[in-house]
Amino acid sequence: MSSVGIIGIGYVGLVTATCLAELGNDVVCMDIDAEKIASLREGKVPIFEPGLPELVVKNRERMHFTTSLDEIFEKCEIVFIAVDTPPSFTGDADLSRVFAVISALPGLSSGQHILVMKSTVPVGTGLKISSELARQKMDNIAYVSNPEFLREGSAIGDFLNPDRVVIGSREPEASERVAALYTRMKAPILKTNIATAEMIKYASNAFLATKISFINEIANVCEEIGADVTVVAEGMGYDARIGKHFLQAGIGYGGSCFPKDVAALKQIAGNSGYHFQLLTAVIEVNELQKRRVVNKLKKHLGPLNDKTVALLGLAFKPNTNDLREASSIVLASRLLGDGAYVKAYDPVAIPDAARSVRGVLLCDDVLTAVENCDAAVLVTEWEEFAHLPLAEMKKRMRHHLIIDGRNFLNAEEIRAAGFTYEGIGHS
Ligand code: UGA
Repeated sequence: MSSVGIIGIGYVGLVTATCLAELGNDVVCMDIDAEKIASLREGKVPIFEPGLPELVVKNRERMHFTTSLDEIFEKCEIVFIAVDTPPSFTGDADLSRVFAVISALPGLSSGQHILVMKSTVPVGTGLKISSELARQKMDNIAYVSNPEFLREGSAIGDFLNPDRVVIGSREPEASERVAALYTRMKAPILKTNIATAEMIKYASNAFLATKISFINEIANVCEEIGADVTVVAEGMGYDARIGKHFLQAGIGYGGSCFPKDVAALKQIAGNSGYHFQLLTAVIEVNELQKRRVVNKLKKHLGPLNDKTVALLGLAFKPNTNDLREASSIVLASRLLGDGAYVKAYDPVAIPDAARSVRGVLLCDDVLTAVENCDAAVLVTEWEEFAHLPLAEMKKRMRHHLIIDGRNFLNAEEIRAAGFTYEGIGHS
């Protein structure tokens, strides 16, 4: 079997490479970051993802690391592109890294090579790449869009047990060869054209984000009328047409995907002349939701200047050290803007926060974070926070207020310990 290549060993790239190795493939991983490649060669995984370091070590004989693009195409016929497509200042995805790969491709004459797009790219990118390949006289390279649906924090399970595999291509033989990599998984394989595959990815992320903004608005109404959003979501979720997933109200969605992809889909629609009104609301609701905690704090504490607030959790969700677009960052800067002092603790994201969060006192544990605080806000639902040391927190905090931004804590237990408790969307 020819090796499989992966270009761009970031989050999706490394998980894809490792899981393809786990499925028995020889994998060549390429990244322009020589330092990252050197540490991966030593078995060091540069990201926090449960189970990933162990799987990299387990598959080390099948995983090879290089900084050479030529090497990857010498050894591999099927080559995945998994480089970053961050948002640009216009809201469009920045495709410079994707096109840097396309323009650096070595001359390939075998007619057997397939480029497989794993990065999330705007609808229409596949066609642009195909024309670029033709312009470079490389139209003997087949192109396949194969979007990825894994989540951070559960990436390996998601990759190996997907709900579906989507393969978009103009070349049936290329589709078959890529599909063959997934046959061991018991998932439906949907073969389609390139634009449809690209759109499935954006539509899926935008729909999930819409579900979250929808339940967050329901939560806000629940607060006004005395209903409990958690039970409302449970009651809705029993309806198979609605489903129970992604109806957890809180202080908004973050991460490297939803904010970027919802904005990009709105932009894709706008660029084609269509105003996607619903997504405008989804984005706005999410931005406002990130700030709602500030009003809750003011309700209990009055003006926030010179108050001290502890943030429990900084990562955009548990089981990751990723802070990109995290609600914690918006919340911290709103609090600092209101003149509050902000302290924070996160079980894994502190080293990353030290590089990217300004003005927040980063602490090594919950008790240090809540020391002399007027309130503690649960921002990320890390398992560690399910059993807070309430008695000790009570002794150390100035005011006994806990705001649960994820409806994760046991309200009764917290109230019984002498705290004022407030969640999102319930009394
Ligand atoms: C998301 C999608 O779920 C993946 O399918 C997709 O592959 C990925 O984006 C991507 O495009 O790469 P991810 O960003 O890792 O995955 O995280 P999610 O678990 O989807 O959570 C996103 C955000 O939504 C988090 O901030 C989370 O706290 C929030 N969320 C999630 C809620 O506020 N409520 C919910 O009910 C669910």
